[in-house]
Amino acid sequence: MTALPDATRKRISPRSAVTIVVAILLIVSMTFNLGLFFAGPSTGLERAATASLPVKEPAGKAGDEQLAYLLVKLQLQTRSEMASHFTRKQSAIPGVDKLYQRLLVKNLILPAAVAGNIFSEVVPQATSGRAWVKMVVDQPRNPKNRGDEEALNLLAELRKGAATAERNTGDAFYYAEPIKAKAACMYCHGEPKGASDPYFPQYTKEGWRAGDIVGAVIARVVPEEAAGG
Ligand code: HEC
Repeated sequence: MTALPDATRKRISPRSAVTIVVAILLIVSMTFNLGLFFAGPSTGLERAATASLPVKEPAGKAGDEQLAYLLVKLQLQTRSEMASHFTRKQSAIPGVDKLYQRLLVKNLILPAAVAGNIFSEVVPQATSGRAWVKMVVDQPRNPKNRGDEEALNLLAELRKGAATAERNTGDAFYYAEPIKAKAACMYCHGEPKGASDPYFPQYTKEGWRAGDIVGAVIARVVPEEAAGG
């Protein structure tokens, strides 16, 4: 004797129940992609591509310098984690990874649009304007990514091959690490330079090539005493 009410037993035959379950599974796997549930957070390859890992305690840094270092690492790591979603093979089902990529792009889940905005708003607010951290490029799409003179000097230093760059100007401490272009960035930022970005036609492609140092994540921290007085 089953506990099912008579009406239910009559209406749903075992065959149609199986059909319904299979249909639901198919829809779920197409929309959300089963690979997302079962894949680990990141593959070893993606981890290896993250220049800033493993994050170590910066030798000889304390206070404001340590804050600048931490802000840069946090923004870089957030960028990298988000960018890996654009490249990660999402599914064995043909076309699903493309669909997923479109979904990310159409909803503007881009490292620059999300990580950039969060950090550029939260950090100055949470430090009463004492600190900022942002992506600095020479000719930014978004004016808020324009660096000050010191930031552009640091970017130039990184382009010459330094792994990190820092400067104490007396007024503030700056810390910078490079942003390197990867194959995944090219669809929107690659060649031909000047052509319109296929997803964001209001912008033009920069002509970046994989491996180029295209910008830097830079933090600027004003010492507490100076900010207070
Ligand atoms: C789907 C398109 C797309 C992809 C892929 C993409 N970007 Fe962007 N990127 C944009 C858009 C759009 C902006 C401007 C966002 C805004 O309005 O703030 C931007 C802005 C940036 C900026 C900020 C500087 C500026 O011009 O304002 C940097 C740095 C950047 N992208 C680096 C990268 C890197 C590195 C990758 C690859 C890991 C990448 N992007 C992948 C579309 C893309």
